[in-house]
Amino acid sequence: MSITIRPLHPVFAGEVHGIDCAAQLTPGEIAAIEAGMDKYAVLVFRDQNLSDEQQLAFTKQLGPLEAYGSPGHIRKDVEQRTPKGVADFSNLDKDGDIIAADARVWFFKLGDRLWHSDSSFRPVPAKYSLLSGRVLPSWGGNTEFADMRAAYDALDQGQKDEIEPLVCLHSLMYSRAAIGFTDLTDDERAAFQPVRQRLVRTHPVTGRKSLFLAAHAGAIEGWPIPEAQMFLRDLTEQATQREFVYSHQWRLHDLVMWDNRQTMHRARRFDDRNEVRDVRRTTLAGDVATIEQTA
Ligand SMILES: [Fe+2]
Repeated sequence: MSITIRPLHPVFAGEVHGIDCAAQLTPGEIAAIEAGMDKYAVLVFRDQNLSDEQQLAFTKQLGPLEAYGSPGHIRKDVEQRTPKGVADFSNLDKDGDIIAADARVWFFKLGDRLWHSDSSFRPVPAKYSLLSGRVLPSWGGNTEFADMRAAYDALDQGQKDEIEPLVCLHSLMYSRAAIGFTDLTDDERAAFQPVRQRLVRTHPVTGRKSLFLAAHAGAIEGWPIPEAQMFLRDLTEQATQREFVYSHQWRLHDLVMWDNRQTMHRARRFDDRNEVRDVRRTTLAGDVATIEQTA
């Protein structure tokens, strides 16, 4: 079976046909998926009824998993519903009950509704994220993606020149502070120390430039904080105009894969008090710190 990709949006995102994600991939299929990711930055695989183990196996065929010792969240690393390597992005606790609206872990999860790139708060940020839709709500819960290559291309030359040398500081503290959640422990603050990231990235294969923005970015080196935060907010607004955004309406057993180097994404509201949304993520490691990339 040969792979075909149908565009889902004028500037990026495609729907893949001709792949069974539960099966062993051929080298040709892996090459086709990677070429598809380089071009579309977001790929949707329909009707992939995967177990956690199958999702892990599929992901590992595309590269090494992201594995950090320090947490990317505040939930303790015990009694997870999912095996190691599969992150639980549901609104359920370990017992399968809906997380309380006033739980710290829920406040923390709400931060994913801001535009972001996964793991931009890590020294080497993530390459691809793969999200599997296991249980979906009857209303809402879309995942929206914004193409940071198209957003970069649309800047005027003066903006491109201004942002080219800029280095931002990213931390989970900034994205959580943006929704008013600042009640962190000393251990969490220590784990969430800001990391440096270039604002402009260059794709290693296509050479296309893109904006490396995220709600995790809360400072620009050498700039006063309010000046930096206003600048980043303004640039994010410009970069997430509707013409750059694909809104993914989930179908049961969709597997959606995105390139964190070239896109931002955000979760959208659903009735999280009464309905279950069980989506699970595997993540491929990035291979280089953005700061080491030549400007
Ligand atoms: Fe995310």
